[in-house]
Amino acid sequence: MTVPNPLQGDAENKSVVATPITRQEQTASTEVMDRRSFLKLLFLGWAAFAAVAAGFGTMLLRYLFPNVLFEPKQSFSAGFIGDYNVGEVSERFKKQHRVWIVRDSEKIFALSTVCTHLGCTPNWLPNENKFKCPCHGSGYYRTGINFEGPAPRPLERFKISLSPDGEIIVDKTVKFQQEKGEWSDPDSFIVT
Ligand code: FES
Repeated sequence: MTVPNPLQGDAENKSVVATPITRQEQTASTEVMDRRSFLKLLFLGWAAFAAVAAGFGTMLLRYLFPNVLFEPKQSFSAGFIGDYNVGEVSERFKKQHRVWIVRDSEKIFALSTVCTHLGCTPNWLPNENKFKCPCHGSGYYRTGINFEGPAPRPLERFKISLSPDGEIIVDKTVKFQQEKGEWSDPDSFIVT
C-alpha cells in the first residue's frame, strides 16, 4: 500500500495553465503605465512650479518689507539735574543711547560710549575712576580724555541743554571734539 504524499498530491491536482496575455490586456497595461508616468510628471511639474513661486513670493515680500534698522531716537530726555549726584558717571543711557551722563562739581555733560580707536564700547570702572576699552585696552579719564592704549583722541561729547521745564535734553546729532577746542562750546555742557 502506498502512502500518498500530501505535497505531491496537491501539486498533481493543481494544474498550472499559463494563460497567454492578449493584445488588449497588453495595451491596457501600457495605458495604465503611461497614465501613471503622466501623473508623476504632472506632480513633479507642479512641485517645481510651487517651489519657484514660493521663491519669488519670498523675494517679493523682502522687497515690500525690507529689513529696516530702527535706530533709537537721536535726541532724548535724560531726566533732571537733581537725578545726578556730583561726581557721578551715570550708565542709565549707555545701552539704549550709547551715552554716559557725567556730572562734576560745575557741570553736566553727555559723553559718547564709542571708543575712538575702533569703535568698541569701553566700560566705566568706578574703583579705578576711568573708562577702559575691552578691545585693545584704551583708557579714558572721566572727562573723556584718553591717556593709555591706542585711542588716538578723546571720547566725543554730545549737545546737551535744558528744556523750558528743566529737563535735560541730549542731542546726538551735534558732537563736540576736545582736540578741536569744542568742549568749551556752551552747548556741550550744562552749568549746574
Ligand atoms: S576699540 Fe577701543 S581700544 Fe581699540
